[in-house]
Amino acid sequence: LSDSTDKARVLIVFYSRDGSTEALANAIADGARDEGADVRVRRVRELVSAETMALAPGWAASAERMNALFPAPTSEDAIWSEAVCMGSPSRFGSPSSEIRAWVETLGSLWVRKQLLDKVGSAFGSVSSPHGGLETTILGLYPTMMHLGLIIVPQGYGHAASMRAGTPYGVGAVSGGGKRLPPTEDDLDIARHQGARVAKAAIATRQLRPGA
Ligand SMILES: Cc1cc2nc3c(=O)[nH]c(=O)nc-3n(C[C@H](O)[C@H](O)[C@H](O)COP(=O)(O)O)c2cc1C
Repeated sequence: LSDSTDKARVLIVFYSRDGSTEALANAIADGARDEGADVRVRRVRELVSAETMALAPGWAASAERMNALFPAPTSEDAIWSEAVCMGSPSRFGSPSSEIRAWVETLGSLWVRKQLLDKVGSAFGSVSSPHGGLETTILGLYPTMMHLGLIIVPQGYGHAASMRAGTPYGVGAVSGGGKRLPPTEDDLDIARHQGARVAKAAIATRQLRPGA
C-alpha cells in the first residue's frame, strides 16, 4: 500500500492510439490529484499486429510515445488502488480488445474479492458524435459490477454537462481522420470526474476495513 494512506489511491487504465483517450486520462488524473489523490496512469499494450498498426500514419509512433510515458498496468496496480478508472476508444461501439484483455487478467483478484467495494468509473472516445460513445463507456461497467466496484458515473454535476460528456462518463469526439483533441469542456468534465472519483474513494473507505 501507499505510504500516504490518507490520500485516495486512484488507478487510471486506458488504451489510445491517436491520443484522445490519453488526453482524457491525463485530465482525470489532474482532477484526482487536485483532490489530493495519489494517481497511477497506465496504458494497456497493443494486441493487433504491426501490419495493423502500420495501416494508419502515426499509430506506431504514437504507441511508442505513450508506452514510454505510461507503464503497462499490473495486478499490483489494481490491488494498490482504491478506485479504478478505465478508458477506451470505441471499437465498433464497444470497448477495445486491448482494455478487455487487461480486464481479463483480473480473474484471480476477483476470486479473492480484492477489488470488492473499490470505486469504478469509465470514459471513452469516438470519431463521430453518434458513433457509440455511450455504448463504449457502458460496455466497461458490467465488468466493473462483476468485480464488485462501486460505480461512480459522471452525472450532470459539472456546468458543461449539458453540452459535452455523457452522464455515464466523460468522452470526446475526435472527428475521425481529423484527430481532434478533446475540447476544453471535455477536459473540464474529465477533471471533474477525476475529482469525484477521488472523493468517492475516500468516502467509501468504511466499506473496505483493513484495506
Ligand atoms: C477498428 C476500429 C473501430 C472503430 N469503431 C468506431 C466506432 O464504432 N465509432 C466511432 O465513432 N469511432 C470508431 N473508431 C474510431 C476511434 O474510436 C476514434 O477515432 C477514437 O477517438 C480514437 O481514440 P484515441 O485517440 O484515444 O485512439 C474505430 C476505430 C478503429 C480502429
